[in-house]
Amino acid sequence: MANRQIVLDQHPQGPLSPEHFRLTEVERPCPGDGEVLLKARYFSVDAGMRARMQGGTYLAPLTPGQVIPGVGLAEVVESRAAVLRPGDLVIAPMGWQEYAALPAEGVSRPPSLTPETHLLSVFGVPGLTAYFGMLECGQPNPGETVVVSAAAGAVGSIVSQIAKLKGCRVVGVAGGPDKVAWLTGELGLDAAVDYKSPEFMGQLAAAVPKGIDLYFDNVGGEVFEACLAQMGSLGRIVCCGSVSQYDRDAPGPGPRGVPRLFVTKQLTMRGFVVYAFEDRYAEALAELQAWVASGKIKVQEEVIDGLENLPKALVSVLRGKSRGKWMVRV
Ligand SMILES: NC(=O)c1ccc[n+]([C@@H]2O[C@H](COP(=O)([O-])OP(=O)(O)OC[C@H]3O[C@@H](n4cnc5c(N)ncnc54)[C@H](OP(=O)(O)O)[C@@H]3O)[C@@H](O)[C@H]2O)c1
Repeated sequence: MANRQIVLDQHPQGPLSPEHFRLTEVERPCPGDGEVLLKARYFSVDAGMRARMQGGTYLAPLTPGQVIPGVGLAEVVESRAAVLRPGDLVIAPMGWQEYAALPAEGVSRPPSLTPETHLLSVFGVPGLTAYFGMLECGQPNPGETVVVSAAAGAVGSIVSQIAKLKGCRVVGVAGGPDKVAWLTGELGLDAAVDYKSPEFMGQLAAAVPKGIDLYFDNVGGEVFEACLAQMGSLGRIVCCGSVSQYDRDAPGPGPRGVPRLFVTKQLTMRGFVVYAFEDRYAEALAELQAWVASGKIKVQEEVIDGLENLPKALVSVLRGKSRGKWMVRV
């Protein structure tokens, strides 16, 4: 009755690689009173997991030997809690392992929406983050110029499409010509710019001739700095994450000029965590579901097979190899 797990072998010095993880095998746990035994089906691969290897975020830091604390879609295989039965599907902080015994109150029943992979993308944390980040924190108005960084990613691709739905002129920032072409072609953005191109600064300025009204920041660093320079008067910035800073030992360059530009352009900036909106998830899911069903939001997912491939998948997401949401099927 084995249970395969992926643990952190050592804290990364420099960029993360699969060698920083270790595959181990332990005995399958037994659920105690009030607990359920869960079998993992899919794990979400999240860029933000790398931040926890640097130290604490709003979640506790990781220590070597610890099972990587991923969230998964799992099936109840044994229950010692009245509220859940074998066969029930749950979203749970499984950790990267095949089986976990967890208190029933620590897991949640997902909404009855299909396909089940969408429960980790558009109907999961990325979709909810995009929804509340753009609509509640960003407050987009028709005709405004909105710029989204990591626009081809799990959160960014949905943020960009929601802003389009609200009548904004949307410019995506992403790495490489393929992603840029996908954003304007498949997702219908008004423009997209490649931040890895030597022409990036000029291309960004040309894409926002009236200045940026709303910048949705997923990356921080140099892209943030470039967008800051293009903000229009009374512009708003929503800080969702800073992926450019995760896969390194010390903070990278940018953004410079924050106090001066904030004063002269009268800017406002708001950070948020999606869990603050937990009591409104049902409302968001109803709207996201309608947009997906009507084809107004296109969902891009990639499923990779095998628990052992989780480390490689996380490294690939951080290096910009992914488009939309990546997940691993166990
Ligand atoms: N606030 C919240 O509650 C909340 C919840 C969930 C996620 N988040 C945050 O949302 C952001 C997006 O997360 P996600 O899961 O959707 O990840 P993602 O966008 O699917 O993946 C990260 C992407 O960031 C880009 N990237 C990597 N290094 C970069 C750099 N140096 N400069 C610019 N772009 C870089 C890469 O795409 P390119 O090819 O374009 O470089 C990479 O694919 C993250 O910052 C995450 O922490 C926040």
